[in-house]
Order: sequence, then structure tokens, then C-alpha cells
Amino acid sequence: MKISLVGVVGAGTMGHGIAQVLIRNGYSVVLHDVSEELVRHGAQRISLGLSREVDKGRLSAKEKEQAEGRLKTTTNLQDLASANVVIEAVTEKFEVKAEVFHSLDSICRPGAIFASNTSSISITRLAGVTKRPAQFAGLHFFNPVPVMKLVEVVPGLETAEETVAVAEQIATSVGKTPIRVRDFPGFVSNRLLMPMINEAVYAVMEGVATPESVDGVMKLGMNHPMGPLELADLIGLDVCLDIMKVLYEGFRDSKYRPCPLLERMVEAGRLGRKTGRGFYNYAKA
Ligand code: CAA
Repeated sequence: MKISLVGVVGAGTMGHGIAQVLIRNGYSVVLHDVSEELVRHGAQRISLGLSREVDKGRLSAKEKEQAEGRLKTTTNLQDLASANVVIEAVTEKFEVKAEVFHSLDSICRPGAIFASNTSSISITRLAGVTKRPAQFAGLHFFNPVPVMKLVEVVPGLETAEETVAVAEQIATSVGKTPIRVRDFPGFVSNRLLMPMINEAVYAVMEGVATPESVDGVMKLGMNHPMGPLELADLIGLDVCLDIMKVLYEGFRDSKYRPCPLLERMVEAGRLGRKTGRGFYNYAKA
């Protein structure tokens, strides 16, 4: 399938990263978010990310300029009308995603493919909001998007094989490795990762060890590049909690119950790096 324009909905951590790797690899992108401030911030982060590549000599200044020339930003979903693929990367809540897809379904042409970057919500359920469940798939990128090699490709119950092929084609063409997994809560990545993070929060809550010690054990003992709590701060504690809730409700199994300390931290607005404080302090001195 020839993809002339990709719409990316959500200019946050994941959305801006996805838009960045797409324009970096020759795609034209319309990046949407709900306010001018959010799209401006997303575009700034993309520019910084591309500058990082220029500094490393992997991209010339001209290539950066050309890539940025392939990016348009908007706060109007109607501007995605001519996209042949739309990737949604809004907040990890079913209702919010469902509303986006419901609107897109009437805006975009019937042949356009929809993909969700959801990290845990059922693709079949999201696809059911639209009249195009055959052209709907999960396309799950990892943070930081420019660095992480994996894209989980998740067909829903009704997804057509051609749609999966397009999803895999997009992942490969931006230098990622697609791995196909079935549509179960948390897919594979978060079914394994989130219980580990949740258990790390329990270890802190129960006073087994400090965050530094929990992370130290996993980095030095298991060779993880980041400890689970540092990683939780990177992902966002609200996102971690939302995913635990999807696992808990999806499997109805108490082994996925979110740790009360994780819930309290989210209630306190300590969401990790993005708010300057999570298990660690990121406030600038
Ligand atoms: N954007 C672009 N590039 C970045 C980056 C960013 N935000 N952060 C780091 N990098 C690049 C650096 O430029 C560097 O590149 P080179 O080696 O080519 O020079 C490379 O990544 C390594 O970076 P650093 O040396 O600065 O730092 P590091 O070695 O500590 O690595 C890290 C940083 C890549 C984030 C590493 O710690 C890591 O891999 N952590 C684990 C990340 C992870 O598990 N992500 C998945 C989260 S789960 C998720 O996203 C899905 C979900 O559904 C919740």
C-alpha cells in the first residue's frame, strides 16, 4: 500500500516520538492534539530529537529541515481527512480513545487504516467503535520511540491480513522490528513488564528496600538498563496504573491488583519525569 499521508493523534511522549520517526523516514505527517500549546510542544520535542541525530552525524542539517518540512500540526481532526493511515496515541483511557476513533471514522475516507498505540486496551473493543474493524490494528511503540526497536503489532478479532501487513510495513520502514501478538490485556509487553513494576512498588511500600535499592538490584543483578521504578517514572505512573487496571479488569485475577502506593502517588500528582517527581526527583536545581 502506498502511504501518502499519516495522521498522528496525540502529540505527547509517544505521539511526538512516532511522528518523529515517521518524518525522519520519509513519511508526510499531520500531528494532531487538542490545543496549540500541546502541538507546539510536540513539534519542539521533534525538532530537539532530530537535532540530537544531527549532532551525532546521523542526519545532515538539510535532511532535518526536509524532515521537518514533512510535518504539519493541527488542532482540527478534519485536517486528517486525506490521511491513508491514522495512528492514535492519546491518553490510555478507553473512553478518550473511543471518542477519537468515533470522530475519525466519519472524517477519514473508508479505505484509511486506523492504528492504536494503546499499550493494553483491547484492539477488538476499540475497533468496534468504528465501522472499519477490518482496517484497524494495534501498533504499539516503546518509549523512547526513536531508540526502542520493537513495535508490537496486534490484530483484533476482525482485523484483515492486509491491515496487519500495512502495520508491519510501517514498523519496518521506520527501522523497527514488528512482533505480532494476540489481542489479550497488556498484549505481551505490558503483561510482563507492568506486574514487575507493580511488584517493585509493593517492595517499596512494604519497606523491603528503597527505590534506589530496588532499581540497583535489577540493574546490577539482572542487567536491566533501568530499574523498574526509574522506568515507571519514564513511562508515567498514571500510565502504569491505567495499564494495571486494564490487566486487573481484563483477567479478573487478583495477581494484577494495582499497588496502593502506586494509586496514592498518582492521586498526589507524582507522575514521574513529566511532573518533575515520581519515585525520584527531577526538579531542575
Ligand atoms: N530520544 C532519543 N534518543 C534517546 C533518548 C530519547 N528520549 N534517550 C536516550 N536516547 C539515546 C541516546 O542518544 C543514546 O544514543 P546513542 O547510543 O546512539 O548515542 C542511547 O539512546 C543511549 O542513551 P544514553 O547513553 O543517554 O542513556 P542510557 O544508556 O541510559 O539509555 C535508555 C537510555 C535508552 C532510555 C535506556 O535506559 C533504556 O533502554 N531504558 C529502558 C527503556 C524501556 O524499557 N522502554 C520501554 C518502556 S515501556 C513502553 O514504552 C511501552 C508501554 O506500553 C508502557
